[in-house]
Amino acid sequence: MKALVLAGGSGTRLRPLSHTMAKQLIPVAGRPVLMHCLADLAEIGVTEVGMIIGARGEETKKAVGDGADFGLKVTYIPQPAPLGLAHCVKLARGFLGEDDFVMYLGDNILADGIADAAAEFARNRPDAQIVLTRVANPREFGVAELDADGRIVALAEKPDRPRSDLAMTGVYFFTPAVHEAVEAIRPSARGELEITDALSWMLDHGRDVRATEFLGYWKDTGRVDDVLEVNRVLMERLKGSVRGEVDAASTLRGEVVVEPGARITASTVVGPAVIGAGTQVSGSHIGPYTTLGRDCTLLGAGIEYSIVLDGVSVRHVEGLHGSMIGREADITAATARTRRLVIGDHAKVEVL
Ligand code: G1P
Repeated sequence: MKALVLAGGSGTRLRPLSHTMAKQLIPVAGRPVLMHCLADLAEIGVTEVGMIIGARGEETKKAVGDGADFGLKVTYIPQPAPLGLAHCVKLARGFLGEDDFVMYLGDNILADGIADAAAEFARNRPDAQIVLTRVANPREFGVAELDADGRIVALAEKPDRPRSDLAMTGVYFFTPAVHEAVEAIRPSARGELEITDALSWMLDHGRDVRATEFLGYWKDTGRVDDVLEVNRVLMERLKGSVRGEVDAASTLRGEVVVEPGARITASTVVGPAVIGAGTQVSGSHIGPYTTLGRDCTLLGAGIEYSIVLDGVSVRHVEGLHGSMIGREADITAATARTRRLVIGDHAKVEVL
């Protein structure tokens, strides 16, 4: 079985971070969302991955390389414009050939992997198999209606009146039967070739489309709050290790990863927390549920439940919570009664 990973989406809901980086490269629990997806694929024995890339494709290529770190062989397939998930299948036709494949949206996290769903697909080999999970906000997703025997009655993309709370996660298993469907459908009202429409076409034309329910933790990392929540959930599994320096005046509690070249002085770090390589933490309180990227400087800082990317500096600012701080940002305390902000487009700032 091959895999088709979709890493082309622009991530408008993750602005401003997605202005300057591919949203799939935002780190959760210390590694990019996309790497969690590749690890899941390696786990089910996939070796050949086609990866759809968009406007920020070069950055994605640089981060993933040829996939050898995961034992994968990655072929990049550029998508000139975001024309929908079914459009990605069309673009990948040459790569996919006549093989079965799993399509995995690169901004989705399935915390317990996809091994059970893959085994079910291999056992029954229906024409298509979708992976569903119960959500509180089905209007924001593709929604499946099932009958009493668990067979799919209908599928709808982001319906105003959802017929169930079963959302389609971003993991789909297909045989080559899907290719006829993606050729047959027309763009939706939002101008995209929807995979949900291709699946509905298959159902309408008597193909065997089945559903499996995913009972673990799933998240589409569409918004900042989703990313922070995924980070919290995955960090619960973190195993501490100290490969950097921690002085005698500092305390580490719980699971804390201190990467090589990081230095912690006169500080408290409460795990789960990751202190990235080369980062200097001094006179600060870090964590829990906090990841600091590489080469950051935290001096007299207080930060918890947050994701800090590489090269950030926080000096004499405490009480940061639920924050995502982009690369090379510089945060300092105001010295007068005025506050000075130099921030990019679509930034969100709360000021007391
Ligand atoms: C896509 C699919 C939707 C699915 C979701 C899962 O939505 O169209 O059916 O539920 O991914 O993440 P999008 O994120 O492209 O709006």
